[in-house]
Amino acid sequence: MEEQGQVKAYAEADFSEPHNRFIELISNYLDPNFSGKALDLGCGPGDICFRFAQKYPECTIDAVDGSKPMLDYGNKRLTPELARQINFICARIPFNTALPGSYDVIFSNSLLHHLSDPQMLWQTIKACSKTRTSIFIMDLLRPESEFIANQMVDEYAANEPDILKHDFFHSLLAAFTLDEIKLQLSYAQLDLAVEQIADWHVFITGKLQ
Ligand SMILES: C[S@@+](CC[C@H](N)C(=O)[O-])C[C@H]1O[C@@H](n2cnc3c(N)ncnc32)[C@H](O)[C@@H]1O
Repeated sequence: MEEQGQVKAYAEADFSEPHNRFIELISNYLDPNFSGKALDLGCGPGDICFRFAQKYPECTIDAVDGSKPMLDYGNKRLTPELARQINFICARIPFNTALPGSYDVIFSNSLLHHLSDPQMLWQTIKACSKTRTSIFIMDLLRPESEFIANQMVDEYAANEPDILKHDFFHSLLAAFTLDEIKLQLSYAQLDLAVEQIADWHVFITGKLQ
């Protein structure tokens, strides 16, 4: 996501409900004193990694996105405290150079449906992890029809700018079903739990063996 209007609409939208939900789900699995190294894949303007950093003030986060305009928003919002924890990195997945080190936690929200090949996400996770790395992924689920996608836009994004409604509609159509995600994971040989957590959200978690 590079276009200024699109990035501005996304960065200024209020995603506190789904993002807090994501952090809450993560906290069901993660040690409350987690102080390791986390990786946020497709971090966008950084809202989720800010929330994660506040919840786990002793951790550090590499937050990666392929869009510089998105990261510019993230960098502008960094407070001195958060800057000690979060390192924004501009890079596209699949990475052509390895990120430094392997991570204790990898999380990602709403990236999977953006990738031309979903294996890019699963293989990147494998490449950046080690034994017992905790994985937390959240994404949209594809509704059964364009008609339902339109209804969801009307229900959940009624007061958002048109550009955000347009992106939400197309993101819903680009998203995967539960069965498709399970197949992707099986192909990648990743033993992760896949759970539908709302009409239009899936949560994928587990520890790498
Ligand atoms: C819908 S936004 C989600 C942002 C953030 N995770 C959040 O939940 O607010 C998707 C993000 O993925 C990024 N993205 C898409 N394809 C990418 C790729 N191949 N490599 C890195 N980032 C990518 C986009 O630039 C965008 O910031």
